[in-house]
Amino acid sequence: MIYILDTADIEEIRYCNEFYPVSGVTTNPTIISREHEDFWKIVKEIRDIIGPDKMFHVQTTQKKAEDIVEEAKLLKERIGGEFYVKIPICEEGLKATMMLKNWGIGVTMTAIFTPAQALIAAKAGASFVAPYVNRLDNIIADGCEVVAEITKQLNLYNLDCRVLAASFKTAEQVHKCASAGCHSVTVTSGILKSLISNPMTDVAVATFEKDWETVYGDKTILEF
Ligand code: G3P
Repeated sequence: MIYILDTADIEEIRYCNEFYPVSGVTTNPTIISREHEDFWKIVKEIRDIIGPDKMFHVQTTQKKAEDIVEEAKLLKERIGGEFYVKIPICEEGLKATMMLKNWGIGVTMTAIFTPAQALIAAKAGASFVAPYVNRLDNIIADGCEVVAEITKQLNLYNLDCRVLAASFKTAEQVHKCASAGCHSVTVTSGILKSLISNPMTDVAVATFEKDWETVYGDKTILEF
């Protein structure tokens, strides 16, 4: 399982990159526009924080295949490192995906809502497909089930494409996708925190501390 951060908030990225085993960052025009900052400043800062080896998925703003390719080349050149261009699924996007193979630029096909979309994106050469789990749940279409089906089909046809499930609002959704064998998820820091927090853990740790202090006071193992 690969965990990626779905945000352009610099402090959030800095924090999660330090404390969690995250493999990169995903953004989209909505996420970038929340920052009200110069685009290049934001993406360069993110790359500086995560370093060249972690994945950085940045979405194109272009609509025509040739323009998407030009933008992807510029993004890769200026952002560098492990870079993927995010392209929403559509005919021009599929054409761009096939063209980008010649340029060695990985594609994350995004705004995926059905297994049929994911399968065609994978056949076009996308490295990742990004289904939107919570947005599917919002229309009572069972996002985790869609992710499970996409994962099954990619494995069934032995396609060189991974599921990057996105749009999560609960830890339960992430857990269900992980159980379905989904390859990767992109989440906010809030979801990451909720994935590790548990009141039973808090009780267990409080008991360890109390029992130790009863016998050894505030002395730590380093002080023996
Ligand atoms: O990566 C796509 C994701 O950002 C969409 O999430 O919360 O807007 O449905 P959301």
